[in-house]
Amino acid sequence: MKILLLGSGGRENAMAWKLAQSPLCSTLYIAPGNAGTSACGTNIDLSPLDFGSVGAFCTKEGVDMVVVGPEEPLVKGIVDFFAADSALAGIPVIGPSGSGARLEGSKAFSKKFMERHNIPTAAYREFNKDNYQDGLAYLKQHTLPIVLKADGLAAGKGVVICQDTSEALAEFEEMLGGKFGEAGSKVVVEQFLTGIELSVFVLTDGKNFLVLPEAKDYKRIGEGDTGLNTGGMGAVSPVPFADKTFMDKVHSRIIVPTVNGLAAEKIDYRGFIFIGLIKVGEEPYVIEYNCRMGDPETEVVMPRLKNDLVDLLVATAAGKLDTKNIEQDERTACTIVAVSGGYPGTYAKGIPITGVLDICPQPQTLIFHAGTKEQDGAVVTSGGRVLCVTSYGQTIGEAVSESRRVLEMIRYDGMYYRRDIGYEFR
Ligand code: AMP
Ligand code: GLY
Repeated sequence: MKILLLGSGGRENAMAWKLAQSPLCSTLYIAPGNAGTSACGTNIDLSPLDFGSVGAFCTKEGVDMVVVGPEEPLVKGIVDFFAADSALAGIPVIGPSGSGARLEGSKAFSKKFMERHNIPTAAYREFNKDNYQDGLAYLKQHTLPIVLKADGLAAGKGVVICQDTSEALAEFEEMLGGKFGEAGSKVVVEQFLTGIELSVFVLTDGKNFLVLPEAKDYKRIGEGDTGLNTGGMGAVSPVPFADKTFMDKVHSRIIVPTVNGLAAEKIDYRGFIFIGLIKVGEEPYVIEYNCRMGDPETEVVMPRLKNDLVDLLVATAAGKLDTKNIEQDERTACTIVAVSGGYPGTYAKGIPITGVLDICPQPQTLIFHAGTKEQDGAVVTSGGRVLCVTSYGQTIGEAVSESRRVLEMIRYDGMYYRRDIGYEFR
């Protein structure tokens, strides 16, 4: 099969690595990819948001399947675009239709969906310009902290946790005043939940589903979970507190009603559902849905998945996931993300990277590229998150030490990474 993978981050490098291992995959294209994905297939200089060009490429090259990495093409309807074009309709696209991608693309939609299907989540209200005064009154009587969420995609910045009421009122006005553009035209105001978070990944064909290895990511820039939020500084899988009792609750109270809810609402969903969960006491609550895999979670989930990913995706497209089972590597995997100096604020690009950059430098380690590109025969930085170094271990401590050892063999100006990934479990 000829497969086209859309995206350019660490998640896509991990997916490309996994797809390329399948005997079912004869050719892998990655658009646009990065300096790491080119070791797994052929990078194609195409924007995942330019659906016309993506479609034309698929027709010209005889692509048999498209796998979508990031959320934006899904929320903007790439699946519907292919389905509506007679020349493309026969090419399966892994990812939900635009209506399914609203689970991520609209916080208000996802909250209402959870309400309709009795899926546990934080209590909330939704406001817009028309009930602005009600919103202010609601905020004034709300307990603290308060969570404000811009309804639409806001590049990971649309969630603000306010510690006092005046901050919440100001944030509310800014969001409805256009701080996030159209994404903030509705605001979800939510109860703050206290607990520990984890990410659960489901692959569904719209009717059947499989649960992939779970993971926990580390979002703050600083060690000990301090400082600004980032796209993710590292991840571990499995998650020690996600024991059978807890995962059984996640299964029956969250995953089953989510998949059944999508089917009952006749939403076409053939792809990944990433459920951001929080464990409050012993109980799971949904913090958010995403319509794609997580980054950097994918960089630990793919290494722990023993199945042939292409085989699973073919079954997803065909509605036959009931014939498959997940097999997972029992070892622990940990990934550490090396970022550009200054990230998540401003940072320079184009900095040469030297040292070990092969995907398999050591038997226990995989190096996935995130923000890198090839320039004049050298690999240079091209984003905030630069490289993800994943290692296996019998314990989290062992996996982290191994990744740190490999990171010490890599150099670029301003390189920074957290040395404490998985700290609370070591
Ligand atoms: P989201 O973009 O919805 O994942 O939110 C980003 C982060 O904000 C989450 O990963 C949580 O750490 C935090 N968060 C969101 N909603 C809540 C909530 N209701 N209670 C506590 N923390 C939350
Ligand atoms: N790691 C969180 C995300 O991918 O959204």
